[in-house]
Amino acid sequence: MATLALEDVKKAFGATQVLHGVDLEVADGEMIVIVGASGCGKSTLLRIVAGLETATSGRVIIGGQDVTPLEPADRDVAMVFQNYALYPHMSVFDNMAYGLRIRGLPREVIARRVQEAAELLGIAALLERKPRQLSGGQRQRVAMGRAIVREPKLFLFDEPLSNLDAKLRVQMRAEIRRLQKRLGVTSLFVTHDQVEAMTLGDRLVVMHQGHAAQIATPMEIWERPADTYVAGFIGSPAMNFLPATLTAGGTAARLETNGLVLPFADGPRAGEEGRRLTLGIRPEHLRPGIGGLDLQVELVEPLGGESVLHGRLADGAPITAKLPGALHAEGPLGVIIPLEHLHVFDAETGKRLDAQA
Ligand SMILES: Nc1ncnc2c1ncn2[C@@H]1O[C@H](COP(=O)(O)OP(=O)(O)O)[C@@H](O)[C@H]1O
Ligand SMILES: [Mg+2]
Repeated sequence: MATLALEDVKKAFGATQVLHGVDLEVADGEMIVIVGASGCGKSTLLRIVAGLETATSGRVIIGGQDVTPLEPADRDVAMVFQNYALYPHMSVFDNMAYGLRIRGLPREVIARRVQEAAELLGIAALLERKPRQLSGGQRQRVAMGRAIVREPKLFLFDEPLSNLDAKLRVQMRAEIRRLQKRLGVTSLFVTHDQVEAMTLGDRLVVMHQGHAAQIATPMEIWERPADTYVAGFIGSPAMNFLPATLTAGGTAARLETNGLVLPFADGPRAGEEGRRLTLGIRPEHLRPGIGGLDLQVELVEPLGGESVLHGRLADGAPITAKLPGALHAEGPLGVIIPLEHLHVFDAETGKRLDAQA
């Protein structure tokens, strides 16, 4: 168990800059999920922590020790991959014991650790089997077991659930979370799946094009996304965005969008009039009502207790609303934007404005 710190970690492959300087501090026992679209640099960052890839600059510090120059074997971290990487000709026991034998641990210690991990994972009855005689979920548990027996300072997970079907993925997700809490091992978990990220992480790192766009708890990220990228990436269905202009209206400022005028708490500073903004509103925060936006609903997806409505504004812009109940309301519908749920971003930079309506 240990803390982890990344200090201004940069990585280029040739002329391609993949990581632009990532800083992160992870507390002892914390579960951090690194989430982002494919190609944003998640695996590269994890591999740099593991020592499988060398950072172009920056430092990796585990438990207060600068491990940047150390080989993977000297870093005391265990990695679980998407493809499990089990040895097909070895039994489950031997797969789990392999790393410990390499390190020359006594036979009794190996037997005890493998047995304990197997019981923890519910695979004690499978120790004599070969990987091909196991289901996908069981193989995933063996891969986890192999990491656990090493009693590492850090667990690193690179999309370990991606090869499982949807139901098993949800089940294994809960198992990993329980196990991680119980063992208290500091962990980095990489995924492109925002639901997985929200449910697993004590905190999330939302990555975008080699930057950490935001580092915060799942709820902080959902309630106060730092920019339009994070706002659109976290949340399903995704947040609606509307272009708006900041205008002066007596003492208060106003946000004008689609013929709608909303008050804005912070009056425009000199020269800010006419500033272009992006308004964000989550589908679940829209409410039926008049005096807001007029939608033409084109499709209703019933989810049982609630319905997702896909509609368009007069100018053709798409809007999604998630409303309670089973609705069959194709056609015109008025929705209102509760001001306490309105997010305001700068249109140019995409950054969140702190002054809220
Ligand atoms: N060994 C490599 N050589 C060249 N480019 C690489 C290498 N590994 C990764 N990349 C590039 O770095 C970027 C980030 O990759 P990766 O970290 O695997 O993303 P992610 O895991 O978020 O999908 C991608 O554009 C990828 O093509
Ligand atoms: Mg990857």
